[in-house]
Amino acid sequence: MTRTSEAGETRTSHAAGAAAPNADTHKSVSQPVYPHTMRLQRFLARAGVASRRGSEDLMTAGRVTVNGQVATELGTKVDVDRDHIEVDGMPVKLNQGAVYLMLYKPTGYLTTMSDPQERPCVADLVPRDRFPGLFPVGRLDRDTTGLLLFTTDGDLSQDLLHPSKHVYKTYQALVDGHLTDRDLEPLRRGIELDDGLCQPAICRVITAREAEAVAPQGVKPGTTAVEVIIREGRKNQVKRMLSKIHHPVIRLHRCNFAGLELKDVAKGSWRELTDREVQILKAGGIPPKQAGAKRGAAPATNTASRTRHHGSHGSAPKRNTYRERYTG
Ligand code: URA
Repeated sequence: MTRTSEAGETRTSHAAGAAAPNADTHKSVSQPVYPHTMRLQRFLARAGVASRRGSEDLMTAGRVTVNGQVATELGTKVDVDRDHIEVDGMPVKLNQGAVYLMLYKPTGYLTTMSDPQERPCVADLVPRDRFPGLFPVGRLDRDTTGLLLFTTDGDLSQDLLHPSKHVYKTYQALVDGHLTDRDLEPLRRGIELDDGLCQPAICRVITAREAEAVAPQGVKPGTTAVEVIIREGRKNQVKRMLSKIHHPVIRLHRCNFAGLELKDVAKGSWRELTDREVQILKAGGIPPKQAGAKRGAAPATNTASRTRHHGSHGSAPKRNTYRERYTG
């Protein structure tokens, strides 16, 4: 521990011999880079103990120790590798592995980690301070809601987005006009868009109950709710596919990505993926329940209505307090 007012930090990797990750190009190795030394309040915020301001309050309240000594001075710097930090007697450590989380993206947020025009963006909704190097896997339109993955694992992200390994993505769309399952046939065959022929989509008309996420007030006369499963990821693809059959999208929601369902997370909140979910991603994803099933077969459940709220900066469902998280 050193006491200094210096703002500078030395960057280093925790993984000996690992290549330096590059969050900008998303070509990182799995281990995130943390500054070697940093201000104690910043360390506490990154460890998820409290916000930067809240961490300062913990320090001034004498609740934080570094190597057994109470640290109340806000300029205190710590060595991430060597110093032993405790809050209320509980050890605090930075998460040193790659991070994977899902965000339930609400409307009105751009899928970017920074916007020069300072419009609301998804970076505002995820714990970027705590998990530096976090970035979204793919994108959703500003007005699209639903499952958006984030990770610090550039290799996995590249795999999931690579055209050769396109994963299944399930969307629910509320569209203008009345349409039947038969009207979706062009999408099933593969519809021609401006930028070329789409791969065949799996699609069907869904009930108002299934469509709760896109039609919370019910499916009004003159509109229809449909489910569309695609593997490509072209810009505005689902909207363009449905416009092409003359049913423009009113609202769009993604409920499944690579076989992961949007569940246990409230709108505007995030949670870390479970080990099982990370395994699914690392295995290249799995088809959603509908894929490969006969038309009319039991659909995947829309889980949005079963969400639990974890607050706007929610945490993992099973280990959601500081004490539980760091003491198992
Ligand atoms: N297709 C779209 O049209 N928009 C999205 O946000 C995602 C898929």
